[in-house]
Amino acid sequence: MCGIVGYTGHREAYPVILKGLKRLEYRGYDSSGVALLNDGLKVYKKKGKVVELEESVVSENLHAHIGIGHTRWATHGEPSDRNAHPHLSNSGELAMIHNGIIENYVSIKNDLLKKGYTFKSDTDTEVLLNFIEDIKKNNGGTLEEALRIALKRIVGAYCILLISNENPETIIAARKGSPLVIGIGKGEHFLASDASPIIEYTKEVVYVNDYEIAIVRPDELILKNLGNEKQTPFITKLDIELAAIEKGGYDHFMLKEINEQPETIYDCLRGRLLPDVGQIMMAGVENNLAALTNANRMVIVACGTSWHAGLIAEYVIEELCRIPVEVEYASEFRYRNPVVNKGDVIIAISQSGETADTLVALESAKQKGAFIFGVVNAVGSSIARLSDAGAYTHSGPEIGVASTKAFTGQLAVLLMMALKIGYAKGTIDDERYIHLMNELNTVPEKVKEILADTSNIKRIAEKYKDANDFLFLGRGYNFPIALEGALKLKEISYIHAEGYPAAEMKHGPIALVEEKLPVVFVATKDSYYEKIVSNVQEIKARKGKVIAVATFADAVIPSMADDVMFVPDADEIVAPLLSVVPLQLLSYYVGVAKGYDVDKPRNLAKSVTVE
Ligand code: G6P
Repeated sequence: MCGIVGYTGHREAYPVILKGLKRLEYRGYDSSGVALLNDGLKVYKKKGKVVELEESVVSENLHAHIGIGHTRWATHGEPSDRNAHPHLSNSGELAMIHNGIIENYVSIKNDLLKKGYTFKSDTDTEVLLNFIEDIKKNNGGTLEEALRIALKRIVGAYCILLISNENPETIIAARKGSPLVIGIGKGEHFLASDASPIIEYTKEVVYVNDYEIAIVRPDELILKNLGNEKQTPFITKLDIELAAIEKGGYDHFMLKEINEQPETIYDCLRGRLLPDVGQIMMAGVENNLAALTNANRMVIVACGTSWHAGLIAEYVIEELCRIPVEVEYASEFRYRNPVVNKGDVIIAISQSGETADTLVALESAKQKGAFIFGVVNAVGSSIARLSDAGAYTHSGPEIGVASTKAFTGQLAVLLMMALKIGYAKGTIDDERYIHLMNELNTVPEKVKEILADTSNIKRIAEKYKDANDFLFLGRGYNFPIALEGALKLKEISYIHAEGYPAAEMKHGPIALVEEKLPVVFVATKDSYYEKIVSNVQEIKARKGKVIAVATFADAVIPSMADDVMFVPDADEIVAPLLSVVPLQLLSYYVGVAKGYDVDKPRNLAKSVTVE
C-alpha cells in the first residue's frame, strides 16, 4: 500500500504534494514525509497522519519546485519518524520513496554493511536506495543506469520515486506491481499512486506499466523499459471530477459513499440493464459469450469485501447459469497450486484493481490458460488491464477505507452478468429473466427508501455500541451479507464480530449466546424465511439480544426481535443489495459513537499492495 506523490514544474511543490498526500491517505496513514530539492535535498518526516507532518514543518522554509512525498502503511519496521519515507542515501545525494516490498533486501543489506554502508531505518527501501547508490558509485554511470541495474537484481514489488542533487529538475520513477500515474500539465508533471492528487491540475494522464522507468522533467516525460528501450506513453483522459473525491458536506467519506449508493447503483445499471427491450448490454460479456456460457467452471478470486460479493455471485451464478462456481481467497488460491485448466473462467473482483494477492493469483491463472474476467471499480488499474475482458462497476472513487458503494456496484455487475449468461444458455426462462431485470432496476429507488430516515439505525448503534462481541447470521443469499456485516463492524468499530450461516450456529457459536450478546439476523422475506424464524427463536430462548434486518410489512420477525432495521421487499436474488445497507450504517454509527476515525480505521489500508 502506501501513497506516493511527486511534482516537478513551475508551482511550489510542497502544497501540491501535501494536498496529494491527504488524498492518498486512505492507502496508509502511520507516518508520512516529503523531500524537497532546492539547493540541496531537504527531508521532513513524521510518525502519524499527514496533518502531523504538516504541523511539524510550519516554521520551515519549504520553497522548492520539485519534490516527492509519501504516506506509509508499515511493512518493514514499526511506524516511526525514522522509518517514515523519504529516505536519504548514505552520501545524502539521493532521496527516495517506495510503495511495495523488496523481498531479497536482507542479503543486499548484508553486502552493503560489509562495504561500510550504515542504515538509519529498518526499511527495505533504504536498502534499495543505498544499493542504487553503490551501483552508481562503482559503475560511474548515470543514476538512471544504476537504477535499471538495481531493479533487475531485486525481487519484489515497487513503485519508487527518486530525486537527486545532480539532477535538480528530474524525478526518476519505476514501477512493478504497485500503481503509478503521471499527470501531464503545461511545463509540469505530477506523479501519484492514483489520479486523485492529479485531477485538479490536469485530466491528461499516463498509467505507467510494470517494468517501466519514467524520467520526468517539467517539460519532458520519457518512458523506457528495463532494457533501456523508449516506450510511447499512452495518454488517457480522466473522466472523474474533483467533487467526486471530496466529502461534499458529509461528516465522513464512508457516510457519503453509503448515501451515494442509489446513484452509483443506477450508474452501474444505466445503459446496460434494459428491461423494456429485454436486453442486458455488457460488451465484456457479449464479446466473450461463448467462453462464458461454455465455461467448465468459474472460479471467483478476491479479498475482503470483494470476496463477499463473490460468495453471493456463487449462489446466483449456480442458480441462474447452472455453472459450478468456487470462490477463493486470492491469497490462498495463489499459493496452494490450484488446478486451473483451459475452459475455466476466473472472475476477479476488486474495487481498487490493485490488490496484490488478487493480481498475483490472476497472473498465475492466466499462465495456466484460464480466461480472466475482471469486475473492477478503478478504471485503468492493474487488474483491469490484466483481464481478458471485464466490466467496470462505475461506483466512482471510494475513499473510505471500508468498502460500501463498491460492494453494491460489484453485486449489480455480477447479477447482470449472471442474468445475461443464464439467458444465453437457456437456464432461465423469459419470465424469470424479465422479472429479475425489473427487480434489479428498482434497487436504486429502494436503497433511497432505506436511506430516507436512518435515525432508527443510529439509535440501535448507540444502544449496542458497548457490546464486546456481535454475531451476524443469515441464510442463502443473505449469508454472505452476514459475513459482510460482521467484517464492516470489525473494521470500523474494533468490536469482535463473527458472521455465520444461521443454521450452522447450533454447531458452535450458540455456546456464546447470553443476555449481553447482540445477534444480528439478516432475515428478509425469502425462501429461507421460515427456517430463519426458527433460528431467531433459538437465540431468544437463550436470552440473546436480537437485532433483525427485516422486510417492511413483515410482522413475525419484528414481534420477536429486540430491534429491527427495515428494508423494502425484493426478489431474494437482488435482496442482498438492500439488506447490506442497514449493516453498513450500523457499523458506521457504532464507529462514530465510539469516537473512532471511521474513514481511516487503525491498521487497515484501502489498497493492499503487499502479498
Ligand atoms: C482491503 C480493504 C477492504 C477491501 C479489500 C479488497 O482490505 O480494506 O475494504 O475489501 O482490501 O480490496 P479490493 O480493492 O481488491 O476490492
